[in-house]
Amino acid sequence: MSILSGKKILLGISGGIAAYKTAILVRSFVKAGAEVKVVLTPAAKDFVTPLTLSTLSKNPVHSTFYDTEEENALWNNHVDLALWADSMVIAPTTANTLSKMANGTSNNLLLACYLSAKCKIYFAPAMDLDMYKHPSTKTNIKKLQSFGNVLIPAASGELASGLVGEGRMAEPSEIVSFIEKDMLSKLPLREKTVLITAGPTYEAIDPVRFIGNRSTGKMGYAIANRAASLGAKVILVSGPSHEILEYPSIQKIKVESAEEMYKAVHEHFGNSDIVVATAAVADYKPANRVTKKIKKKDATLEIELVPTKDILASIGKIKKTQFLVGFALETNNELENAKGKLKRKNLDMIVLNSLQDKGAGFATVTNKITIIDASEQISEFELKTKKEVAKDIFDSILRKI
Ligand code: CTP
Repeated sequence: MSILSGKKILLGISGGIAAYKTAILVRSFVKAGAEVKVVLTPAAKDFVTPLTLSTLSKNPVHSTFYDTEEENALWNNHVDLALWADSMVIAPTTANTLSKMANGTSNNLLLACYLSAKCKIYFAPAMDLDMYKHPSTKTNIKKLQSFGNVLIPAASGELASGLVGEGRMAEPSEIVSFIEKDMLSKLPLREKTVLITAGPTYEAIDPVRFIGNRSTGKMGYAIANRAASLGAKVILVSGPSHEILEYPSIQKIKVESAEEMYKAVHEHFGNSDIVVATAAVADYKPANRVTKKIKKKDATLEIELVPTKDILASIGKIKKTQFLVGFALETNNELENAKGKLKRKNLDMIVLNSLQDKGAGFATVTNKITIIDASEQISEFELKTKKEVAKDIFDSILRKI
């Protein structure tokens, strides 16, 4: 999945011949999963039509501060447009627009959006080679870079004038991969490995029966998706679960029993930087696994149970630099129990779910958590979707690592 998936991109098109390529650019962003809105300078409309761009982006396209053709003229709020965006891409950036951006001129909608934007801004210059070489252009580019705007350098090649040289806008595919690479390089968990346990475990009684629990794996899978979206290499050790992962890059190791989960976790623990244990691991397993199906009898049946290994506590004992996050699902005396587990298992953070909170726990799409860190500082959160909870958990982890 592209890092652009789900991202909101405001594409600003200024009036140069390279604007004809922006139809492909919009299409490429949309194909990568981004939501795209387009603003044009009035001059850009001579090179590419708003109809093409609105059809491809599936959003209205604006070039003026208000739409004059409407009976009730509508104000195109540049502040809203700019704040909506996760990234603004100005392609092509003509010499004229470049100069206005560098000097704070705001005489069209694109420039007003640019000045209002708080998001990351990419600009892809396009102009004739002598214009590109001109000291004022170089100075303007440097000025924009000093504002934190990211240059997508122009390429060399044949220009509209017939001259050959530097000044050609980067191709749409190059712009997309440039932005993807730039975004990936800035992800906070890049080069980190996150190991996650999720789901229930099944402890076999005989070949057809097991002792399990009601965990679905929803929370663990949401955490795995979040970690991947932050650029981490993710290893998910999952008990039986029907949940689906959003990121194909996540390495999923399927296990059934606590013992299998224990082995998989220990195999990968040494190479991990962060471990989040969300699995509802069985605390007991049948002492003996019967190899043949147990037949029904009139008498009562007793199954002897023995404790499983505590996976999290076992890695807590051997941890070096790893950041360990546990979960505590409690029904009573919640804070004290969670703090007890934090200490006992040598964790850096514990996420408490109370089954007394409506909407928290197994099989729900929501969860209500309290995070306790190693210094026993407590942060309470509202009832949220598990996806939002996963974000809160990683925001807290990122503040600590
Ligand atoms: N855990 C684990 N291995 C186990 C049991 C628990 O790794 N055998 C992990 C869970 O994934 C969770 C944390 O330990 O992150 C706490 O699990 P929980 O079931 O709440 O606590 P227990 O230690 O099992 O204690 P109790 O069941 O008595 O509350």
